[in-house]
Amino acid sequence: MQKHHTIDSEDLPTNASENEHFQVVVDRAYSRRGFLKSGIGLSAALFLAGPLAVYADSNDKSSDEQPSSLLGFKAIPISTDDTIKIAAGYTAAVFAPWGTPLFADAPAWKADGSDDAAAQARQVGDNHDGIHFFPIDGSSTEGLLVLNHEYTTAENGDYIWLFGANGTKPWTAEKTAKAMNAHGASIIHIARNDAGKWEIRLDSRYNRRITASTEMELTGPAAGSDLLKTKADPSGTRVLGTFNNCGNGWTPWNTYLACEENFNNYFGTTSGKDTRNAAQKRYGLAAKSTDYRWEEFVDRFDYVKEPNESNRYGWIVEIDPFDPSSAPKKRTALGRIKHENAAYALSADKRIVVYMGDDQRDDYIYKFVSDGIYREGGDNSTLLDAGKLYVARFQDGKTDGDFMGMGEWVVLDKTANATLAGDTSFATQADVLVNTRLAADAVGATKMDRPEWVSVHPASGDVYVTLTNNDKRTAPDAANPRAANIYGQIVRWRETGGDAAATTFNWDIFVLVGNPVKYTDRDDSKSGSSNITIDNTFNSPDGLAFDKAGRLWIQTDGKYTNSGEYEGQGNNQMLCADPASKEIRRFFVGPKECEVTGITFTPDSKTMFVNIQHPGEAGESHWPDGGNSIPRSSTIIITKDDGGEIGT
Ligand code: FEO
Ligand code: CA
Ligand code: CA
Ligand code: CA
Repeated sequence: MQKHHTIDSEDLPTNASENEHFQVVVDRAYSRRGFLKSGIGLSAALFLAGPLAVYADSNDKSSDEQPSSLLGFKAIPISTDDTIKIAAGYTAAVFAPWGTPLFADAPAWKADGSDDAAAQARQVGDNHDGIHFFPIDGSSTEGLLVLNHEYTTAENGDYIWLFGANGTKPWTAEKTAKAMNAHGASIIHIARNDAGKWEIRLDSRYNRRITASTEMELTGPAAGSDLLKTKADPSGTRVLGTFNNCGNGWTPWNTYLACEENFNNYFGTTSGKDTRNAAQKRYGLAAKSTDYRWEEFVDRFDYVKEPNESNRYGWIVEIDPFDPSSAPKKRTALGRIKHENAAYALSADKRIVVYMGDDQRDDYIYKFVSDGIYREGGDNSTLLDAGKLYVARFQDGKTDGDFMGMGEWVVLDKTANATLAGDTSFATQADVLVNTRLAADAVGATKMDRPEWVSVHPASGDVYVTLTNNDKRTAPDAANPRAANIYGQIVRWRETGGDAAATTFNWDIFVLVGNPVKYTDRDDSKSGSSNITIDNTFNSPDGLAFDKAGRLWIQTDGKYTNSGEYEGQGNNQMLCADPASKEIRRFFVGPKECEVTGITFTPDSKTMFVNIQHPGEAGESHWPDGGNSIPRSSTIIITKDDGGEIGT
């Protein structure tokens, strides 16, 4: 069983709108071009159609390592072991697992999980996810490591993690407080010592824990709106805490973006009544109790007692790691969704553009374009407070090189969008931003297969997104060989004129993930596109990031049964792709029942940081401490033994 997947409410589609599903668009595009009619399977058609058709010719890539100028390491096989596997010539070291003291006077972690709430507030949180390294003065040996703690792993049957021997029994205010303190983010001053080992600078003034109780601000167009006012905050501008921070982003002015994802899972009621309105249902609030049970001890998490509190979550939170006294800012201009990550680009005229996915089955892809321009070395502190929010509509259409489809960015603006201007359910732009999903439904955005991370190619500006899976797809097209998408795909788009602020784009599918171990017939779309082989098969791409050289790193959060549909795929893993040749190689495999997520580099590209989240979520891991220990989420520091750049 997978506890994680019972917690992740993106598994349940809440999008009841009539908007077109992405796969329907794909099917129509390709069937109109005659590829499916010709008898070539969808996956082959996708690649025969492009200029890289030569790649699709090679039916037996499994036996020979294709040369790639970008990928310098030798691929590794799958693993089902409770340990980390990494390509030859590389070393992976565990760093800052859950419970690590973050201050000189913080208590040591108790290995039975019995630390109290006060201790947890001074230790590294649980379930590491998004991560970013901010160098100090450009250094590649000293900086601030900022990471998200997405959720807590409490207990699962006989397996107990967060609360020591008796788990959640009895459930108490103290345990609620500990769970709240295990959420949020950590800011950790780290440096490489003389022996070359990365260490925490425990006496640094920068070390900081941000939790579900930290005071922060709501800023931008929706701040102060009636929908954001509560009994505790009649101003609608002051909010306590952040939680379910999944992926992340960062800005060129050295701030961190923590992305609030499945916030809905923290709001329930002890009243026994179901008073949820349409918006609360669209965002997936539970009718009654939640798994986290915070509502039993903290009134603001009971949506009957405090109906607007949930509107204060689901935002992008900007954190200045270099100012420990600064209040994090929830930037309402970027919309309220189940944010996965946030990837920036600069437009031709230097406005900041932020790409964002809403991770739920049948939800959408967005971008924010600032009104102001980025000024290097200047004050950019309000740049994310004013701009336009757009949602993507993917269409079939004319070919532009290998980017065959066409798309448009539909503005979610109460004045500029005629549909929203005429829709009385949105009185103001604040309503549009608080209920972003409903506005996107109204303008006919394209339903996607759970958009996860977005990343922008450092040279071309092409934008890539992982669509992790969508096994509840109800695609009506008979030509669609993947009515239930269990493996996922990576889609990419190219903004018109190469300008990130453009309102139209072209797109294609970079990889249709599949399993040629289970499905040996290459015409079966379940085997994936031609760049999926028996040697690199995986499922559920999630974390995604380009490095400076343009390598595309792909992390997975999928099924790890290694049987049935997932035979030959092993534990969750990290692979690396060459965007030009489309070759994909497995670089790293995580321990049992984990996901691999979050990725960042030092400026010299010689240290890579990734996270191992929820090892042993079903009770089968004792990683990293071994023996009979409680498994712990952790950062992994990857270096190349010869001191070279990662990936070479
Ligand atoms: Fe927190 Fe969509 O993964
Ligand atoms: Ca994710
Ligand atoms: Ca995921
Ligand atoms: Ca996760």
